[in-house]
Amino acid sequence: MLDIANLRSTLSEHYDLAPSPELAAEMSAIYETMNRVVSPADWAIYAPYVAAINKLKKERNAVILAHNYMTPEIYHGVADFVGDSLQLAIKATEVEEAVIVQCGVHFMAETSKILNPAKTVLIPDTEAGCSLAESITAEGVEEMRAKYPGAPVVSYVNTTAEVKAASDICCTSANALQIVNAMESDTVIMTPDQYLAQNVANESHKKVVFWEGSCIVHELYTAEDLRAYREHNPEVKIIAHPECTPDVVAEADYTGSTSGIVDWVHQHKPKEAMLVTECSMASNIADELPDVEFSKPCNMCPYMKKISLEKILWSLHNMSDEVVVDTAVAEKARNAVEEMIRLSRKLGL
Ligand code: 13P
Ligand code: SF4
Repeated sequence: MLDIANLRSTLSEHYDLAPSPELAAEMSAIYETMNRVVSPADWAIYAPYVAAINKLKKERNAVILAHNYMTPEIYHGVADFVGDSLQLAIKATEVEEAVIVQCGVHFMAETSKILNPAKTVLIPDTEAGCSLAESITAEGVEEMRAKYPGAPVVSYVNTTAEVKAASDICCTSANALQIVNAMESDTVIMTPDQYLAQNVANESHKKVVFWEGSCIVHELYTAEDLRAYREHNPEVKIIAHPECTPDVVAEADYTGSTSGIVDWVHQHKPKEAMLVTECSMASNIADELPDVEFSKPCNMCPYMKKISLEKILWSLHNMSDEVVVDTAVAEKARNAVEEMIRLSRKLGL
């Protein structure tokens, strides 16, 4: 666990991190990407961190890969690349820098390490977990195989390296349906997200059997709430992530991965949009879409929110915490992730 008092006193010895309206003004070009959602006072607090991180990043030959759920000051201020899980995994195979700082949750950092065993992969807080990744172990995968002999195992990337290693192929929310449909068998095992699996099953000709994990953020949304909201705001476009229940997905005007959601809103520019996913998504695109009014049901992912500017600076300063994956496990897990990337490219995704 991070010792925050020690982290703060060490950082203050090396960097001037006092709120600075002057630095905030100098860095106004960055602020303009988020000024609809970040106040000037907050920007004066963030600016010294953003400046220090961007300088240190170059000195350490590091790149910051950030998930779409990061807060705006991370997403717009320090990230070199932002995206959904599939895009981040692909990007991890392309970076030239020696160090990857993964701003997201642990399974994402592990995926980057699996794909880049020679690089140093850092995560700013090892406690950035995921309820889905925590819901299944490699033994769980073997249980499913014993129950459905011969059926291939398609595991969501929201899993540990051990679970990926025990699976035949991975998938993300951006390619789950197509990956399942591409399996030769009529029955396909999906782990660990029961709702993603049911949403895929509703659109697939395959028999999909699944592990009963769930995302603690997306399972909170209910179809009833969405219907009630739509009744009062008939113009709203409801856009959901496939980790939501099938009832919620049925209410949505569009369902897709986090980047699919961003692209859809950019393309359709609805007057009012409700993003039925993690809170920061709407904040991150609010400035790019000034004519779209975002209603935020705002469920926060407590794991994603463990990542902050302060911890990113610490991670680069201290070169910690380094993500380590057992070599034999990583090799098997790499097969499952690379097979997903290969198949995704073949399917034109
Ligand atoms: P995406 O792959 O759609 O970015 O989703 C990852 C995730 O954890 C959503 O909760
Ligand atoms: Fe995991 Fe849900 Fe958080 Fe995504 S939003 S990282 S699936 S707990």
